[in-house]
Amino acid sequence: MAVRWWRVQAERGDTGRWWLWKKKKISVARWWPTVAGQCKEGYGCWWCSRQVVTMETEGGSAGCGGYGGVGRWLPRRVETKEVRRSRCRGYYEILIAFTSFILLSFFGTTNGLVRNWPFVGMLPSLLLNIGQIHEKCADVLGKSGGTFLLKGPCFANMDMLGTVDPANIHYIMSSNFSNFPKGPRFLRIFDFLGDGIFNSDADSWRNQRKLTRLLITHQRFHQFLVNTSQDKVEKGLVPLLDHVSKLGLVVDLQDLFQRLTFDTTCMLVTGYDPGCLSVELPDVPFSKAMDAAEEAVFSRHVVPVSIWKLQKWLGIGQEKRLSKACETLDQIIAKFISTKKHELSVGNEPMKEEEGVDLLTSYLSDDEVMDGLKCDYKFLRDTILSFMIAGRDTTSSALTWFLWLVSTHPIVEAKIREELKTTIPKKAANKRRVFSVEEVSRLVYLHSALCESLRLYPPVPFQHKEPCQPDILPSGHRVDSKMKIMFSLYAMGRMNFIWGDDCSEFKPERWISEGGTIKHEPSYKFLAFNAGPRTCLGKEVAFTQMKAVAAAIIHNYDVRVVEGHHVSPNVSIILYMKHGLKVKVTRRWS
Ligand code: HEM
Repeated sequence: MAVRWWRVQAERGDTGRWWLWKKKKISVARWWPTVAGQCKEGYGCWWCSRQVVTMETEGGSAGCGGYGGVGRWLPRRVETKEVRRSRCRGYYEILIAFTSFILLSFFGTTNGLVRNWPFVGMLPSLLLNIGQIHEKCADVLGKSGGTFLLKGPCFANMDMLGTVDPANIHYIMSSNFSNFPKGPRFLRIFDFLGDGIFNSDADSWRNQRKLTRLLITHQRFHQFLVNTSQDKVEKGLVPLLDHVSKLGLVVDLQDLFQRLTFDTTCMLVTGYDPGCLSVELPDVPFSKAMDAAEEAVFSRHVVPVSIWKLQKWLGIGQEKRLSKACETLDQIIAKFISTKKHELSVGNEPMKEEEGVDLLTSYLSDDEVMDGLKCDYKFLRDTILSFMIAGRDTTSSALTWFLWLVSTHPIVEAKIREELKTTIPKKAANKRRVFSVEEVSRLVYLHSALCESLRLYPPVPFQHKEPCQPDILPSGHRVDSKMKIMFSLYAMGRMNFIWGDDCSEFKPERWISEGGTIKHEPSYKFLAFNAGPRTCLGKEVAFTQMKAVAAAIIHNYDVRVVEGHHVSPNVSIILYMKHGLKVKVTRRWS
């Protein structure tokens, strides 16, 4: 500092004061003000530049004794009241900030994993790590033995018990299911789904589940699924991939899969093909509105209820986006319902047993199926939206991660190709082919590779529950009715105490038994499709679609990720890739 000051003074030709200070003739305070900053007069002055004050010096200069004026050697500051008050305020602010820092550091405790602050709990750490929330959960849960209590702010009722312990999951999802409904908090967060199956508990859920199971397992729905899946691959996916491969274009596979599953799900649920998967890649407002709604719902998980409710009331931020998205979704669904009702009323849509039939037609035309349930507009709206979310997002996310893993694991890719060849007559082995659903349904290695991908990248990365009554989990943790219990499915796939030391590796072989059949893993260990009475009702639908798509791509094309493309998970209720999956596709056969 002294050297710097010396240089400044030397430039001004004024080194006398430093010399006097050195000789202990004046105190440091006398020369300090000239060291830094600028005074009103334009000279170096710490005080004036900070506080813009009027200072008078003994010599009557309007400066401060910095450089000009008689009193520059002995600056006696004469401060006005206002000046003094503002200086005091500055001190107080610094003091409060400093004291808070010391107090928080002192009282904030850490267990070596997450710091727990007074009043705000672990929320700051949660928000700080939100961008890498999946990895952070895996890290914390791994180090804490599988269960971790995340303390929320003391005023926000946000305490959350995170667990990946299979014993806890079995207890919550199956053996003590009745004490762990989704709970009012879940229903509030997902309110845009209305009273659909995802967003209901107790009798409402039970009735809807019974009805949905009946429809999904019905032969005519299965037939519709088979026809739709094969048709979309043959007339939508293959021509599009041929097109991009011919032109050597880079394509975002995630976007293609979202389009594909949006089309197929829309057809399965409403019977209409929106035609998103075409060479023109049209804009799809419905699809965009679903993305916006999902993002907003995720932010509700991490922001205190009072804050997002205030945002909703004020119509700002994510809540504004959510309400706009809901408007779009409602308008489009209303159109689906009215068109279908009209078609059925004029007899344009006869029941085609051999071709199969969509869910909306079944709801509207089959009183036996409805079994006394009220099939009003709200029921249909909530059901359609729930199915669209269930079918579009989960399956497209699963396909994206799967194709990425396969394209980056050449040995797995080769094994899948070998297995596919076994279903083709020898003469046609090296030719373009679209496989039938029956051909791919029994392939063990393909099935194992899909399960392995779902283990590492579960499309629904989190699940939560709320106990009705206080309870003690098998891990010994107490839970009460104010506490949220969160499962991180992403972390579960990365726990060595569940999957062994090679848990982070993509190894389809772990799903194959010694006898060469698919090895069954209990659902409380492999939770991708949920467990217990609320197990996913669309698991078979999803596998049928995924196998048809995966077989067509892997057999007919080489897929290579564009160099430098960064793959990482997003932060939302569905595990997508943050930047999509940019690839180049080349045809294997002419
Ligand atoms: C890879 C694809 C899929 C995955 C990973 C998946 C996963 C899940 C998960 C984790 C749940 C539980 C959600 C919760 O309770 O909050 C669930 C429930 C459900 N899924 Fe799927 N799903 C997939 C595909 C599908 C498809 C294609 C359909 C239907 C066409 C479907 C229909 C349902 C239904 C109706 C439920 C509600 C079950 C209930 O609450 O009783 N899913 N699914």
